[in-house]
Amino acid sequence: METSWFSPLGDVVFVEKTADGALLGVGEEKFRVDVLRPDLLRLKISQAGTFDENPTFAACFQVSGAPPFRLIEDEASITIDTGRVRLLISRRPFGLSAYRSDGSVIFEDQRDEAGGGGYLRLNDSFIVTRRITPHDSIYGLGEKTGHFDRRGRKFILWNTDVLAPNVLQRNHLHEVDTTLTGKSTRFDPYYTSIPFFYHCRADADGAKMAGFFIDNGYKASVDFEKRNTYSFSFSGGQYTEYVFAGPSMSDILAAYTFVTGRMAAPPIWALGHHQCRFHDYTDEGILDIGRAYRERKIPCDVLWLDIGYMNGFRVFTWDSDKFPDVPAMIAQMKADKLRLVTIIDPGVKAESGYSVFDEGRAKNLFCKTEAGQLYVGQVWPGRTVFPDFVRPDVRAWWAELNRRHVESGVAGIWIDMNEPATGDVEPFAMRFDRDASNHAHERYHNQYALLMAMSTHRGVSAANPGLRCFILSRAGFAGIQRYAAQWLGDNVSDWDHLRMSIPMAMAMGISGQPFIGADIPGFSAKPTPELAARWMQYGAMTPFCRCHNEAGERDQYPWSFGPGVEKRSRAALELRYRLLPYIYSAFMRSSETGDPIQRPLVYDFQHDRHARETDDAYLFGDALLVAPVLAPGQTARHVYLPQGTWVDWYTGERHAGGQFITAAAPLDRIPLFARGGRIIPAYATAPSSTMDHYPELLELHFIVPDEDGEFFSQLHEDDGITSGFQSGAFRRTTFCLTRQKDRVRVSARVAGHGFPEFRRRALRLVFHGCSVDRLELQGGEIRVNGGLVEIENHGEGFELSFLV
Ligand code: GLC
Repeated sequence: METSWFSPLGDVVFVEKTADGALLGVGEEKFRVDVLRPDLLRLKISQAGTFDENPTFAACFQVSGAPPFRLIEDEASITIDTGRVRLLISRRPFGLSAYRSDGSVIFEDQRDEAGGGGYLRLNDSFIVTRRITPHDSIYGLGEKTGHFDRRGRKFILWNTDVLAPNVLQRNHLHEVDTTLTGKSTRFDPYYTSIPFFYHCRADADGAKMAGFFIDNGYKASVDFEKRNTYSFSFSGGQYTEYVFAGPSMSDILAAYTFVTGRMAAPPIWALGHHQCRFHDYTDEGILDIGRAYRERKIPCDVLWLDIGYMNGFRVFTWDSDKFPDVPAMIAQMKADKLRLVTIIDPGVKAESGYSVFDEGRAKNLFCKTEAGQLYVGQVWPGRTVFPDFVRPDVRAWWAELNRRHVESGVAGIWIDMNEPATGDVEPFAMRFDRDASNHAHERYHNQYALLMAMSTHRGVSAANPGLRCFILSRAGFAGIQRYAAQWLGDNVSDWDHLRMSIPMAMAMGISGQPFIGADIPGFSAKPTPELAARWMQYGAMTPFCRCHNEAGERDQYPWSFGPGVEKRSRAALELRYRLLPYIYSAFMRSSETGDPIQRPLVYDFQHDRHARETDDAYLFGDALLVAPVLAPGQTARHVYLPQGTWVDWYTGERHAGGQFITAAAPLDRIPLFARGGRIIPAYATAPSSTMDHYPELLELHFIVPDEDGEFFSQLHEDDGITSGFQSGAFRRTTFCLTRQKDRVRVSARVAGHGFPEFRRRALRLVFHGCSVDRLELQGGEIRVNGGLVEIENHGEGFELSFLV
């Protein structure tokens, strides 16, 4: 970004202590610090002397009063000390730096010769430049292509429909490489913008991280290319930054999701397998797909309908020739233990006589141009208008349309094209809240999907009081996790896109969005059978597991590539379905803590350099390490196993961590390693669907560690669909496994009141990678045969121990 005419704010001219921090006069503006928690500060700089208290819809937290802090003034500087963070503000000229209580750096402005220059601005734009050392790493920024470590690249934050022809030119993205198309694995910008990143400084003793969330929805350029500085600049809006002291990635993510919210507990069926296709189905056609899943005994929970179900792509309508009786179709799906999700785009066909358009126009609910005409773009139905989601009355209207649509029995809503995509027409003439505030397009472009998700969530929840809500969104902004899961948009059926999706999904996970997945086995182009099998094996081990493909492409059902791929897909999905108790527990935990589900190794092993550099493998939950196969013909791959014990899920072979191994990867399976010390709950057999699945038998897989220590795992059980868990209708078992020399003790404690569907009568204990032939349960001795034993259990806690 060209910044030669940008200028600094000047000197500090006054300092006032406030209840929450401090207010400073700086040149003609004000600078405010709010101490939100001892490890979390919010910094703001006014625009023309005024603060915007709600710069975006991302933040959703409440604090009751600031924690104690000290404000210390001296001749050259002002210090705000929370005990965890020391923010140092230089007076002449104004400059900022922050340190932890041990003196380690959180951030330091880059200063010019006059001692200022960290913050510069021109007109409504600003740029912040800070120091970095050549060996530091940067993580985060949500959905971005390339390496997980963002160092060495520049990025733009501007929600973009990546496959649309000439989308970069139409969005005036002249500064990016316009020769790239959305099919490139370096394409930028992408669908979702999350202005949040981690700065990691490592030395021989380990790594410390700090986090930074710039609460601004305008277009941004972020530059991590330089050796000694990094910068972020926004084309408008207020400088509002949340500074997270860390020093661990998990502390920062917990605090970031405190600020922007956490994923709502999802219905368990959303963790099942989803079948989607951009295709002109009829009701019989889609029901046949469901029947094929059942006949072929491939687990599946959800069938999806893309835009073809509508009457001429008019949202909230059905093509009644193809779908004459929607409730009957949905009832049939239910009989087959399947649910239905339908797509809803924001673009409303601009056509008199179409009720959604007529009503929205009559009530003045669509975005307008500066002059007050309806803004018209071009998406699937042709000329389209766009709901002005910035306004609460428009969100309420759209929610009501969704409520009515969903009441026919639709289980969830897929919201797409919400960057917003405007096709052949430039988006900039679209203004928001034109008659009252007349906001320029840039202010809300990146938040459009967030607002659409907010409104859709409201409608779907209203249709199903007491039930959990599932929404899938393509675009997003910080905070979208509160309302919607996301997928990685239109990808290509090739090995590079499979590989690219791993760091992309992991980065979404550490940017607050844990519910994420890529189209299996790629949206456009034709996958080879081998890629189809490998992608299904990988997709089954990601948070969101959906098959999808582009219109006009050949069939990509699990059975479309012949019996070999069908068999492997079935096995991959059966493994996912057997692991659902574990996966579901990981989701429930994530909804409380913000923990990612497809988590980078660095999240758990921050001090390990190889773990920090791994972006081709990940933990699925906190107990399974997944190393997907990323190239054709590959039947073995290198896997880095961090500290601890890792047990091959299939063979029981044990590996000490802290080393690279070569893992066998025959075509039948994805390399998978269970983490020593963990107890992994699983169903004894894979159900075909989660619907009404409350089995009498549950397996607990004990992954005995080689090293002594204490290890915790959790099993969360509830009805999986209602919000009853919020008032105690669940059973949560916390396992503590302790190893001391050759003695292993396990104690299981149960919390919650339980729930009516609970039917458990027995637990099957399975011991991985070690021979256990007897154990003590509540003082009595039991024999173990062939590494497993069944014990009676109705959901109560227990104590057991055994020798290894
Ligand atoms: C967009 C979506 C894709 C969908 C298509 C038609 O390209 O990303 O998933 O199938 O629109 O609705």
